[in-house]
Order: sequence, then C-alpha cells, then structure tokens
Amino acid sequence: MRAEYNDLLKKAINDGEFTREEVIFLLKPEDDEKDVLFHTADVIRKEVFGDEVHLRGIIEFSNYCERNCLYCGLRRDNKNLTRYRLMPEEIIDIAVNAERIGYRTIVLQSGEDSFYTTEILCQVVRDIKDRADVAITLSIGERGFEDYRLLKEAGADRYLIKQETSSPELYRKLHPDMRYENRIRCQKDLKTLGYELGTGNMVGLPWQTVEELADDILFFREIDADMIGIGPFISNPHTPLRNFSSGMVEDTLKVLAVTRLINPLANLPATTALGSLDSYGRQKGLTAGANVVMPNVTTMKYRRFYEIYPSKICTGERPEACRHCIEGIIESIGRRVSSGYGESPKSLRGGKERCIMK
Ligand code: 5AD
Ligand code: SF4
Ligand code: FES
Repeated sequence: MRAEYNDLLKKAINDGEFTREEVIFLLKPEDDEKDVLFHTADVIRKEVFGDEVHLRGIIEFSNYCERNCLYCGLRRDNKNLTRYRLMPEEIIDIAVNAERIGYRTIVLQSGEDSFYTTEILCQVVRDIKDRADVAITLSIGERGFEDYRLLKEAGADRYLIKQETSSPELYRKLHPDMRYENRIRCQKDLKTLGYELGTGNMVGLPWQTVEELADDILFFREIDADMIGIGPFISNPHTPLRNFSSGMVEDTLKVLAVTRLINPLANLPATTALGSLDSYGRQKGLTAGANVVMPNVTTMKYRRFYEIYPSKICTGERPEACRHCIEGIIESIGRRVSSGYGESPKSLRGGKERCIMK
C-alpha cells in the first residue's frame, strides 16, 4: 500500500478536506488498496449511521417520458416498450400497502410525464399523508420552482433528481433535449425550498473519465446533497447507446466509497442497478459505504415495463417478497432494518459536523 494512499484514508477518517487531485488519486486504488478503501468507507458509514439500514419503497407509477436521454429505456423514442400509467387511487393504495409491510419512506417515481399535473400530484401526496405514516420522496424530474413549492406545501419531504454527470459537455451529449443549467437550477430550488435533496450519477457512461467522476463527487458536496444515488451505467439495447459496454461493478464501488469519504453524512443507497449487474451488488454496496436500499413496491403486473435497463432485478416479485428478501440480505451482513424515517442527518441537526448521530 502506498503511503500517500494510506495518508488520504487517514485524512478521511479525521474528516479532512480534499482537493480535486486527491479525489482523483483516491479513485485509483492499486489492487491491495481497494479493500482498504471499501473498509474505510464502511467504518465512516458505521460511525455516522450505525448498523441501521433505511428502506425506501419505490412506486414506479408511470413509464411515460417526454425526454430522450440517450441511455434510458423510458426515453420517448423507444417504441419497444409497453407504456402504463397508474391512476391516483392505485398509487395511494400501493403506498398504504407499502406502509403496512414496513416501509417508512415512499418514493413516487416516473418518467417526465405531464399527464400528472402538479395539482394531481399534490392531491396524491396529501392523500398518502392522510392515510399512511410515511415520508414522501418525489422523483418526477424537472419542474418549475412554483411546482416544487406547491408539492412541498402538500407534504412532500424529499426530492430525487440525479445530476447524472457533472460534466457540462458529457451532460449535453447524453441529454439532447435538456439543459445542464436547468438541472442544477432544479437542485438548487429544491434545497432552497427545504427539501432533502437526492442527487447522484452513473458510473461507466460512454466517454466518461475518472476526472469527471471526481468532479461528480465534489459536485455532490458543493450542492450539499442529503442523498446520493450512484449506479453503474447499464447498456440498453433499445437505446442509441446499445453498442457501448456497461459500467463495471468495481468502479461503481470505488466511486461509492470515495463519495462516503467526501460526503460522510449523506444517505447513500446500494442501488438497484448495482444489484442488477451483480447478484451480490447490493451487499457489496452496503459494505463499501452505503446505508440505504430502495426496493420496489409497485404492483407486480407493471414492474416489468419500467425497463430503464435490461435484467433489472425484482421484476417478477411481489412487494411482500422484496420486503422479506431485502431484510434477509441486510441481516446476512450483520446489519438491521431501521424503524425510523431515515431523515438526512443534516436535516436532523442542521449541522455539517460528524458523529452527530451518536
Ligand atoms: N443504466 C443505469 N442507470 C440508468 N438510469 C437511466 N438509464 C440507465 C441505464 N441505462 C438511471 C438514471 C436515472 C434513473 C431514472 O435511472 O440515473 O436517474
Ligand atoms: Fe426520462 Fe428520466 Fe429516462 Fe431521461 S432518465 S428518459 S428523464 S425517465
Ligand atoms: Fe426484490 Fe430481493 S429485493 S427480490
């Protein structure tokens, strides 16, 4: 192990600040340094969150999308997908059932689908809050400040909108009909409005460099993210990126671990994409810095149509089966399912200091 690498890990344990060069260096461990990197991230995770793992139940309520992101199976030009929309009553029933089977956070996720006006979604949020004791995360894409304000007022607690890449050039290449600046604007608006903000990226995107991944990690810190979702890019045959290879599980784990070092207080999920590329992907994520898992709670008949990428896990399982399965996974690595809402430690105490969970 190189002395410089060891020194940087020690600095992370002591909550030091990192330069861009240092983040790049951390992302390139040699073979014998990798496990020490993962272990250090695991130690910091444990210091901040203990052994509790937070579950978020995802309801994929519409796979219609008006955008055309090059990597995604829900993109509007993909004609090879059966589209569906859940009606508000169905969404609410699924949320109530999710609470019944033990979820304390519900994520309402869809493509960018203006069928669901902000007014409709506000009513859905209010009805869920009336009928279930859950925190609500929205993951419905780019909307205006006023929309975000109304949804917050209706009771939404958190918002997930990934930056995907912090490189303006790469962002433009991958998102023909979107603007980098607007993506950032959304995240800033959400912070201003008092949402807990979830951002994140993909690892192994075509053309992506390690320097850009380091910038992603610094971006997460800069935007003061409460949650950071990091998943491998998975090549989808029904998209223009079909000829590119998928990202690597190990590279994703490195980015996850370094993100934990640089953003110790953030909630970090072991993503479904990680679990889809490797049958132990989520376990590996949970032992390399992650403290959250986001199982699917959508009714079985719709699951297989939310096909962002191929071989997505859990498309043939019922919500109850995933709930049971994930608890087994968590307990198999000596951890336990949290019974709390899993708020951001930042919003709990409002500070940036470490060890505040103790
Ligand atoms: N591989 C991995 N993740 C993907 N996403 C979209 N397409 C892919 C893909 N091909 C992720 C993005 C987006 C979310 C909807 O799914 O990060 O935020
Ligand atoms: Fe739509 Fe999101 Fe997929 Fe882009 S990543 S096509 S916005 S669902
Ligand atoms: Fe869905 Fe394991 S979490 S089957």
